Amino acid sequence: MKNIVVLVSGGGTNLQALIDAQKRGEIKGGEITCVISSKEDAYALERAKQNGINTRVLVRKDFADVHEYSKAMLSALDEEKADLVVYAGFMTILDETVCRAYPNKMMNVHPALIPSFCGKGFYGLHVHEAVLEKGVKVTGATVHFVTEVCDGGPIILQETAPVLNGDTPEILQKRVMEICEWKILPKAVALFCADKIRVENGITFIEE
Ligand code: GAR
Repeated sequence: MKNIVVLVSGGGTNLQALIDAQKRGEIKGGEITCVISSKEDAYALERAKQNGINTRVLVRKDFADVHEYSKAMLSALDEEKADLVVYAGFMTILDETVCRAYPNKMMNVHPALIPSFCGKGFYGLHVHEAVLEKGVKVTGATVHFVTEVCDGGPIILQETAPVLNGDTPEILQKRVMEICEWKILPKAVALFCADKIRVENGITFIEE
């Protein structure tokens, strides 16, 4: 059984999608064993507790710099014996030592079709604001492995959503979550736990 550790900072709807998929028996070979939040008051922590999942809180301002914070995160992941680390709306920067310790074992869900609308400054609602400003007609979400390049790691799954007349960033965010993120994140985790994702030269190959 693979230990899945989920990193969160906010509402945790993606965490909820993972918990629901686990309850439906869709994540064979893995179990969410710990949720680590970068915010003390993240509602994601409540979701974990309501489902009997062990929680930890690591707040960035309690550490001198990003390296000290990353060291603490690495120790926590080590103590939890993490086999897979999932960023599910985790908004705090870690240094390269963390992703180097978990090569192709850390995944992130991003609310756009990478390589569009990604990288520094593109997170949360800002992504959907930029999508609307540009006027693209199709957007979506991406699950990818985490590397030192922000939003630049191997792409695992993508799903599209239409941009409609009258969309606000909030309306678009909700559509992208419902029809993209909450589907592809649990699917990617299930594929990982079933050892069905292979990475060669930065490209993933999925055994369906
Ligand atoms: C999600 O839309 C996720 O894709 C995004 O933050 C939201 C978290 O929602 N993540 C990023 O923008 C990371 N670059 P949640 O806490 O309800 O899962």
